[in-house]
Amino acid sequence: MAIAADRGAWGSRVGFILAAAGSAVGLGNIWGFPTQVGQGGGAAFVVVYLACISLICGPILIAELAIGRRSQRSPVAAFRVIRPGTPWWLAGALGVLAGVGILSFYSVIAGWTIGYIWFTVTGAVDGDPGAFFADFVSNAPLTVGLTALVMLITAGVILGGVRSGIERFTTTLMPLLIGLLLLLAIRSLTLPGASEGLAYYLRPDFSRMADLGVFNSALGQAFFSLSLGMGTMITYGSYLSRRTAIAGSALWVIALDTSIAFLAGLIIFPTGFSIPDFDPSTSGPGLIFTVLPRLFASMPGGALFGVAFFLLLSVAALTSAVSLLEVPVAHLIDVHGWPRTRAVIVVTAGTMLLAVPSALAGGAVDAFTRLPLLGTDFLTLMVTVWNNVALPLGGLLIALFVAYAWRVEEAVRELQVEGAWLPYPGLWGFLIRYVAPVGILVIIVVTIRALLG
Ligand code: TRP
Repeated sequence: MAIAADRGAWGSRVGFILAAAGSAVGLGNIWGFPTQVGQGGGAAFVVVYLACISLICGPILIAELAIGRRSQRSPVAAFRVIRPGTPWWLAGALGVLAGVGILSFYSVIAGWTIGYIWFTVTGAVDGDPGAFFADFVSNAPLTVGLTALVMLITAGVILGGVRSGIERFTTTLMPLLIGLLLLLAIRSLTLPGASEGLAYYLRPDFSRMADLGVFNSALGQAFFSLSLGMGTMITYGSYLSRRTAIAGSALWVIALDTSIAFLAGLIIFPTGFSIPDFDPSTSGPGLIFTVLPRLFASMPGGALFGVAFFLLLSVAALTSAVSLLEVPVAHLIDVHGWPRTRAVIVVTAGTMLLAVPSALAGGAVDAFTRLPLLGTDFLTLMVTVWNNVALPLGGLLIALFVAYAWRVEEAVRELQVEGAWLPYPGLWGFLIRYVAPVGILVIIVVTIRALLG
């Protein structure tokens, strides 16, 4: 499902939707979303998140796909083909950097996930999952080793052309993942304390929005979850055939991605609130790893569900990691003419180097666990820089590019090619011209003002 070096095309509309969903569905949904909801104070965050998805990110997803299909190029080249001789290609360059930046922390969390397959098999997490997690993430050789393992598998997939294998993974394993999540949600909703968790998750307490940081983290999370703002979807769109209706496919991807994130919340919060003294706002990146083992422990044959869960999540994370690595690699090949192998080796090594401080930020090295001046850990800093700043900025540039450089009329023509379905073209034009850019700008301003206090 990643990208063929020769300019291939998706076999069918369903194939494309599954490939794009394979990139979108990953740690962002199951690890990122509940973590951000917890830090953002619950249901109020969920409301802002859904608004960001429908008003800002949905229109931008359609825009990225349209740019990709029109230009038939990876991001930097795509901007150059549509508007040669202008600095718009810098938006693509930002995406190339973001690919490396995001993958650097993504591989760390994916490494934790792989570790938890084993810890569930051996029963190591049984007992006190919180204490176990703290121990685990402060173990430097283990966390760095697992991160390296993720990077090697990801690089291997991109080099080895086992893409058809991955595509098969997505088609069979994604339904399995959804089925398992449904099952786990049912179990978590029947735990004692579930109603308290459900209220926290779904009954908005709008006074929480007084913390204006919520808007920025919801926006960043929405971009991250949909693989938007850095050109991944431009690249995917470049493999679309002219017979595939972009808008309809985009709606499917959004529906799949958002329902999987929503389900993850339905699992984490009811389970979390069944634990005495649970406080989602202080759990940080370890939230799902400390909460889920309790859920599995409450189920007959729980270890089996646990192993299946972490296995499926690892696969989902790997398919997303592949799509992240592909952007900088494709760039070096397309624009700088590097051989594929060299591009993969160099980008993988660079990303791994940047990943080390994140892997050591869970207690292994004090300076990375509590950064001087900032007070947060290095991994959280990476999430903030790339998800909350770089992706919305990339999204803003993409919206402005379509609206004012490429022009909405041209983009709409691309979207409606061969009579493709595009409900209310005027609505999409309005969202991409005004609502998305203004929404992102307002959130940037609000965030800066909140930071200045
Ligand atoms: N969306 C993926 C997830 O939720 C992560 C991801 C893959 C991504 N490719 C991306 C995020 C490109 C931003 C941009 O796990």
